[in-house]
Amino acid sequence: MTKNDWIYRNLLRPILFKQDPEEAHEFAMEALSKLCAVPLFATNRALTDPALASEVAGIAFPNPIGLAAGCDKNGRAIPLWPHCGFGFVEVGTVTAQPQSGNPKPRVFRYPRYDALINRLGFNSEGSQAVAMRMATLRETHRSIPTPIAINIGKTKVVEGEEAVLEDYRTSFKRLSPFADFVIVNVSSPNTPGLRLWQEKGPLTSLLSALMEEATRGKRKVPLFVKISPDMNEADMANVCEAALELGLAGIVATNTTIAREGAYAGLSETGGLSGKPLTARADEVMRFLYKQTGGSLPLIGVGGIGSAEDAYRRIKFGASLVQIYTSFVYEGPFFPRNLNRELIRLMERDGVRNIRDAIGTEAK
Ligand code: FNR
Repeated sequence: MTKNDWIYRNLLRPILFKQDPEEAHEFAMEALSKLCAVPLFATNRALTDPALASEVAGIAFPNPIGLAAGCDKNGRAIPLWPHCGFGFVEVGTVTAQPQSGNPKPRVFRYPRYDALINRLGFNSEGSQAVAMRMATLRETHRSIPTPIAINIGKTKVVEGEEAVLEDYRTSFKRLSPFADFVIVNVSSPNTPGLRLWQEKGPLTSLLSALMEEATRGKRKVPLFVKISPDMNEADMANVCEAALELGLAGIVATNTTIAREGAYAGLSETGGLSGKPLTARADEVMRFLYKQTGGSLPLIGVGGIGSAEDAYRRIKFGASLVQIYTSFVYEGPFFPRNLNRELIRLMERDGVRNIRDAIGTEAK
């Protein structure tokens, strides 16, 4: 354990964990967004190494460890994340209209299980406000050394197929100019009816509409879709087929789960479960997707990655990149650095020279 990890575990985390999880998060985000104004933090270099750098979907990534959606929902602390060691950042979910989400409390910690449950329900400042913040960021920071993904989701009150398509389109148009890639969220368990958009017909209409937007301008915006771990194989196969047919850049797997299996049956709060309870299922989904797409589509692995071994295994099961959120809450701001360092050690052990040489090597 480094000195910084010790400080987080023994001093900072006990203070944060005394607070309600969402309040602690708000407090941390407020502090981080303020730090963005400090010149030292405003400029930075990405954590990278020849073994970790790779290109995915035509985008250069300094390292494969990303911050998953839900932490920086409104893009308030983007310049700070590379300091933690992240190689890319996913802002969002952002909805077209501003909305406050579900009633509080709506985030729950389970330290015994290295897990969280959330039913935030897309609390979002809305795509107009986030786009304005991103525009300002562009003016003040000429370059952010890590790719930025923006995750878009459905506004709760919008209903009916055409209206929902328009809702996603609006977010896409406003936000894609500021994103290296866009991720379509159809997998949050906390917006009623959202997961129905993962079914073949609705999914194809939605992704076609967004692909039309993504390919309209001079710059083709890489589009990913983020899926749930609770889908059966037939539905996952449909997503793969749609993604390949429509020319998507890739798939992000997985979001949180509504399943409470085995030892986790007692975690009774409603919402999406994340962290360690998700590891095995997210591994399984990754293997399936890689085999189903024959390794032809970039996959981003997320769900229950709590160690470099987890990250490395997810990559060997088919992920080109991985993301974390829950383990970041438990392990602290320098955890992504540790993951990268440890990942290099594991690769050296196996004689793997670059991370891309490990992708899918154990998917069979
Ligand atoms: C999330 N996640 C999430 N995902 C998403 O696509 N949009 C979102 O707004 C959110 N919000 C969110 C809030 C909170 C509090 C948590 C814990 C998670 C899901 C997240 O991006 C990720 O897919 C899962 O949490 C699984 O990864 P971890 O947490 O096990 O590393």
